[in-house]
Amino acid sequence: MKIIHIASEMAPIAKVGGLGDVVYGLAKEQRAQGEKVQIILPHYTSIDHTLLGKEKEVAPGVVEAQYEKLPLLLLGKYAQIYGNDPTSEIKRFASFCHEVMAYLENESFDIIHLHDWPVGLLAPMLKAKNPDTRIVLSIHNFFHQGQCPKDQVENLPFDAIGDPHDKSQINILKGALLNSDAIVAVSPKYAQEILTETGGAGLDQVLKQKQNILTGILNGIDTDYWNPEDDPFLVYHYGMDDIDTAQVGKESNRAHLFHELNMDRIKSPLVCAITRLVPQKGLDNIEKALIFTLENGGNFMLLGSSPCPDTQARFNDLAAKYKGPNLHCHFVFDEKLAHMVYASSDMIIIPSEFEPCGLTQMIAMRYGTVPIVRCTGGLADTVQDGKNGFSCINADDFDKTLSKAFDTYRNHPHIWKELILQGQARDFSWSESAKKYAAIYKTST
Ligand code: GLC
Repeated sequence: MKIIHIASEMAPIAKVGGLGDVVYGLAKEQRAQGEKVQIILPHYTSIDHTLLGKEKEVAPGVVEAQYEKLPLLLLGKYAQIYGNDPTSEIKRFASFCHEVMAYLENESFDIIHLHDWPVGLLAPMLKAKNPDTRIVLSIHNFFHQGQCPKDQVENLPFDAIGDPHDKSQINILKGALLNSDAIVAVSPKYAQEILTETGGAGLDQVLKQKQNILTGILNGIDTDYWNPEDDPFLVYHYGMDDIDTAQVGKESNRAHLFHELNMDRIKSPLVCAITRLVPQKGLDNIEKALIFTLENGGNFMLLGSSPCPDTQARFNDLAAKYKGPNLHCHFVFDEKLAHMVYASSDMIIIPSEFEPCGLTQMIAMRYGTVPIVRCTGGLADTVQDGKNGFSCINADDFDKTLSKAFDTYRNHPHIWKELILQGQARDFSWSESAKKYAAIYKTST
């Protein structure tokens, strides 16, 4: 079967968030399972070409390349991945979609797999051209829908993308939902949540019409890349088979990291947050958890930054206010450091307001780091309170949940070890998820 993924991101060459990891991880596993896979991306000027295999410009603005044996096609020329103005975003991605249409004219394939609204226009465009085209749409975030005033854009399939509530607006995701053969949310729980008024963000009624083709498939993680046994970014490798050896491994990495960062080694636990600082991620609770940890004798590390200057300023102020040997805030993305922090931490906090899937909790569990989360979306599907982590339903209870985790860590080490063991026992690889996608492709052809 030939599958073409079309997306705005693919890790590591064009990545902003988890969507990029998923496009890469899923395509890699599909290839390993014997499918023919190709990925089409906008040609961003930021792409690091040293990572790519032989490149060939086969037509003006059409570049064939490879990343780790995955065939890529880079189309057009685009400055950055996302911007802050909805209308210019839509114009840029619309232009990419027109380029994709021109390219696909002479291509044969079995499945077109689209990811989120930036490539959503392709669903109505492809169906208008050939109603037999089989389209699978993955939903990574239902809140981003591609909306702007209709009179600011042109040359689009307006009948398909009219906003269901406001005639003067367009809504690209709506057109994608109504023109796909299968809709896949990135976790089973999220598939239920987007059918509700809150989770549906204005499109729940449209989605209900398509409920028969909606499913949820939990994302995987790249378990070769995220493996504490041979992770090249760790100073000390450790396996998770024996919990005591794992804890020694974590402790050795932590000692190294604390030394490098001039942090105080006496205090524990080490709590981390590895996240983009956007409202979805529960900013108030991230701040509260940082303060709680410092006030309760622990260490805190925050890795991540915000695309919004006000939010970044808020966290800069917080870091300045609590500056000291028990806090490290790193506001620039640093892949190597992220690996060391997963390996060194005792707990990771993920207090998201909503979380379609979430990858960090799965990575953390693989590194023996216990997740403390809000029970939503993929976090609800992967973290069970008291079994492999801690989870709360209400955002207001996050503090209490963190406090329960501190108590277990300090006073019940046997239970703590059991939490770690349960977390690492689950298979988070792409293997099962890719098989579920394969089943969906079959029913859509
Ligand atoms: C988006 C979602 C996140 C999900 C990722 C990959 O970034 O917010 O929850 O894990 O996409 O599907």
